[in-house]
Amino acid sequence: MIALLPSGLELGYDEAGSGLPLLLVHGWPYNRTMWASQLGGLATYARVLAPDLRGVGQSTVRGPYTMDQYADDLAAFLDSLGIARAVVCGLSMGGYIAFAMLRRHRDRIRGLILADTRASADTDEARAKRARLIALIEQEGMTALAARQLGASVARATLERQAPLVDTVRRMMTSVPPEGAIGALRAMAERTDSTPLLGTIDVPTLVVGGAEDAITPPDVLRGMAAAIPNSRVEILEHGGHLSPLERPAAFNHVVTEFLGTLLLD
Ligand code: MLT
Repeated sequence: MIALLPSGLELGYDEAGSGLPLLLVHGWPYNRTMWASQLGGLATYARVLAPDLRGVGQSTVRGPYTMDQYADDLAAFLDSLGIARAVVCGLSMGGYIAFAMLRRHRDRIRGLILADTRASADTDEARAKRARLIALIEQEGMTALAARQLGASVARATLERQAPLVDTVRRMMTSVPPEGAIGALRAMAERTDSTPLLGTIDVPTLVVGGAEDAITPPDVLRGMAAAIPNSRVEILEHGGHLSPLERPAAFNHVVTEFLGTLLLD
């Protein structure tokens, strides 16, 4: 489906189920199809919404690309569906965007799921790495980028034993338009530090991620959860950075439990 925002931007999205809105925000360099198992597995418990961010999938490829802009797009997306508040679940870059939503649209957030993400801004080293990735995309395209990124994106066991899943991730990566991928890299490099925000989070929060996540390891997740007042943390064995794809049943289980606690609230 396509949502037309007042800015003229179109966002492609999938929707399943009814009840409590659950907004799934994908990471980089992915698109909404990374949430296929959540659309299938969580629709009994929530109204699951998975949009493509601007610059990828079926959404308009147009800047500006900033965390604030992505957050504003998502608030406008919720408006377009008549949704006042949603549980916001962001994976990695999706988590950075969830933090921007907290800063700019806090009243729209009913609960928070921070998956395989971190609150801190990029270090100088991380920014330099992003500059190298931008050069790689410009010179060699998304196939080369996917080859570079895949190893860190999933657990070693996934890489070795789940060839169809690895193929799906590779195809997702190579389908991202270079402009959208580069825009997101610059936006991530420029994002602000959300660490000071953690202590102010006033909605129930689930922090979840893979035990084998090489990009946002369990210690990062535990540290983040420790700084958020009403939070819990779940580390999924054998999962990598893409825990919702690699451990879909376990991921859906902890999210379902979390949604259950929200309904009792
Ligand atoms: C992601 O999965 O969104 C990226 O790994 C985030 C990042 O590069 O910081």
